[in-house]
Amino acid sequence: MTASLSVSSTVARSAALPVPCGPISEAVIRCLAAGEPGKEVLLPTPTEVDSTSRDVQLALLICYELHYRGFESVSDAWEWDPDLLRLRATLEAAFLDYVRAHVEPGNDAAAEMEALSVEATSGSGPSWFLRDEGTWEQMREYFVHRSVYHLKEADPHAWAIPRLTGQAKASYVAVEFDEYGGGRGDRVHQHLWAESMVAADLDASYLGYVNRVPAQTLAWVNLMSLFGLHRGLRGATVGHLAATEITSSPGSQRYVQGLQRLKAPSACIAFYAEHVEADAVHEQVLRHDVVGNLLRDEPELEADVVFGMRALDFVENELAEHVMSRWSAGQSSLD
Ligand SMILES: [Fe+2]
Ligand SMILES: [Fe+2]
Repeated sequence: MTASLSVSSTVARSAALPVPCGPISEAVIRCLAAGEPGKEVLLPTPTEVDSTSRDVQLALLICYELHYRGFESVSDAWEWDPDLLRLRATLEAAFLDYVRAHVEPGNDAAAEMEALSVEATSGSGPSWFLRDEGTWEQMREYFVHRSVYHLKEADPHAWAIPRLTGQAKASYVAVEFDEYGGGRGDRVHQHLWAESMVAADLDASYLGYVNRVPAQTLAWVNLMSLFGLHRGLRGATVGHLAATEITSSPGSQRYVQGLQRLKAPSACIAFYAEHVEADAVHEQVLRHDVVGNLLRDEPELEADVVFGMRALDFVENELAEHVMSRWSAGQSSLD
């Protein structure tokens, strides 16, 4: 069987409901598994929400996933169930407060993007470690974390499209068009990622590793869904995508170097090589055509754009610290 056949047979489906890991995710999963909404449901109304807990982040990811592919054997009607939406609102308000509490406010998007585009010459995160000394097993482990996002790459940002207008919208869609393969199904970045998972002998199914990743990985992906699904946070979504694209090219270059050092399969290298090139262009489009035009039209969104950039940095650092602290202790970064 070729890699692309295995990929298409695994990635097209919805995932099974995850395994619960605490009272909130347990209640959500029990509820979704019970059948159609509308019956009497017993969902918790948590008064204290710890956004660093895996239970909270998993419950949030499940609520968000109903807007993407849903879950196997779970009614699509749950997507707009008021009780579940009320619980989701409680969890995401706490998560947003938590992120805001850890991110300095800022009001100069151009300066922020300028600073992000200054290429670092050294660093202590996984991309640096995997470039220079990480093992193939650690690289594969990192793929597992990344898979929760890359198998839905571009989807969380796509929610912002109807909320943008004019040139900002046209340029934003031009970047998303590339992420979605420029009209070619076999070039969709989600698909390229699935191919690299298969090449690395990993499971390419959608959310295939959701039960193995820690709270930090779930939070990193949940942040994008939180921003994307709220019109009021469209500035943060644009900032998030801008920071993603600006920092992607040099980061991807480090992965290319690490993968070459480890003599990884060519599909793994191809995914990152594609991002070295494409994201150098996307960076320019985001900086000038998207953020520039958005803030010309809606200058009041500038603080949110900066927040989106800094929030991404915060959740990425949380994940990087988790991974590096586990690896330095000689342990796996997965649960
Ligand atoms: Fe991409
Ligand atoms: Fe990109």
